[in-house]
Amino acid sequence: MYLKKLALRDYRNYESVEFATEGAVNIFVGPNAQGKTNLLEAIFVLALTKSHRTHQDKELIRWGADRTLLRGELDKKYGPCTLDLTFTNQGKKLARINGLEQKKLSSFIGALNVVMFAPEDLSIVKGAPGIRRRFLDMEIGQVQPSYLYDVTQYQKVLVQRNNMLKQSFKGASNEALMEVWNEQLVRLSIKIMKKRQNFINKLQIWAESIHRGITNGLETLVIEYKPSFTYDDSVEESVLFEQFMIKLSQAKDQELRRSTTLYGPHRDDLAFFINGKDVQTFGSQGQQRTTALSLKLAEIEFIQEEVGEYPILLLDDVLSELDTYRQTQLLETFQTKVQTFITTTGVESLQMNRLENASIFHVRNGQLVLS
Ligand SMILES: Nc1ncnc2c1ncn2[C@@H]1O[C@H](COP(=O)(O)OP(=O)(O)OP(=O)(O)O)[C@@H](O)[C@H]1O
Ligand SMILES: [Mg+2]
Repeated sequence: MYLKKLALRDYRNYESVEFATEGAVNIFVGPNAQGKTNLLEAIFVLALTKSHRTHQDKELIRWGADRTLLRGELDKKYGPCTLDLTFTNQGKKLARINGLEQKKLSSFIGALNVVMFAPEDLSIVKGAPGIRRRFLDMEIGQVQPSYLYDVTQYQKVLVQRNNMLKQSFKGASNEALMEVWNEQLVRLSIKIMKKRQNFINKLQIWAESIHRGITNGLETLVIEYKPSFTYDDSVEESVLFEQFMIKLSQAKDQELRRSTTLYGPHRDDLAFFINGKDVQTFGSQGQQRTTALSLKLAEIEFIQEEVGEYPILLLDDVLSELDTYRQTQLLETFQTKVQTFITTTGVESLQMNRLENASIFHVRNGQLVLS
């Protein structure tokens, strides 16, 4: 899919901006704090109705304005598609596809697919587990909006359950209430865990072959899903449910002591292995970067496989962090099949042949100049 046109009103530091794209590669160039990332963020928001860098939708509205409007005109395999998204400072979100209001955001999410690669993704291997869980949520959510619904429900249950644990609940009626929360927690946990495992199984196939290609066949990459509650994937769901419930009852005293839920998808993690060795512990910096790159390239293929079209690639300040060889891997692999938006403070740091055909937009204080 291609984004043909983007129009923003009162979005971050943009009062009003509109631009059309021509080619596959589009570069936003400008000094710091001018609004380059804001543009990539806006494209991301059109895909997921959420920012990749804040949970507060209100931050997206230009200071002093009461709402922000985003419009993207897409060229998809089956024809053109216009996406409209509005956020108000009353917390309302309005979503339209081709002018038709979508009552549920889940029917809007996924019309546009994106893969974002930002500097923080380079720390996906070494960074905190939360970064890896966010990765799972963003990727699975795009191709399976019901997953995001499960995650939201799960988070609500988790908050309630943690509140009970904090109050050191006692008495029969509270015990019964806790049992209800436990059942809900486990039911949603299993849904989420199954979807995460399934995603990793698919991603593994792509990531392994891409990584082998980048390393000239020298390295075999393995991604492992590490749920907080280890289980045998082949058992029936009803058995898994019972096992998880038992685990929670065993953990009860510990959870009360620590006033928090100790098992569930909010504690999941991923591990990466190169030739059998844990990359987090033993990987060189280069191997960690290559792992992150293989993952991103695998995501692109994963989305293509799931939705039948390539997503749009958003590269925020990340190319200059990669050496020429890895830059080439990132951009040349997909040629013109994947439309790419790149931000950088200077084109000198990009050493790509493909830049010859790129459209360059200069970003200055919330305004765009095409050169
Ligand atoms: N809601 C908002 N209203 C107005 N301005 C905002 C809002 N949110 C952020 N900004 C401004 O947007 C600018 C940051 O834009 P952005 O993050 O896109 O910069 P950038 O060009 O990517 O910079 P860098 O090269 O440092 O990454 C800041 O000056 C910030 O003050
Ligand atoms: Mg930026």
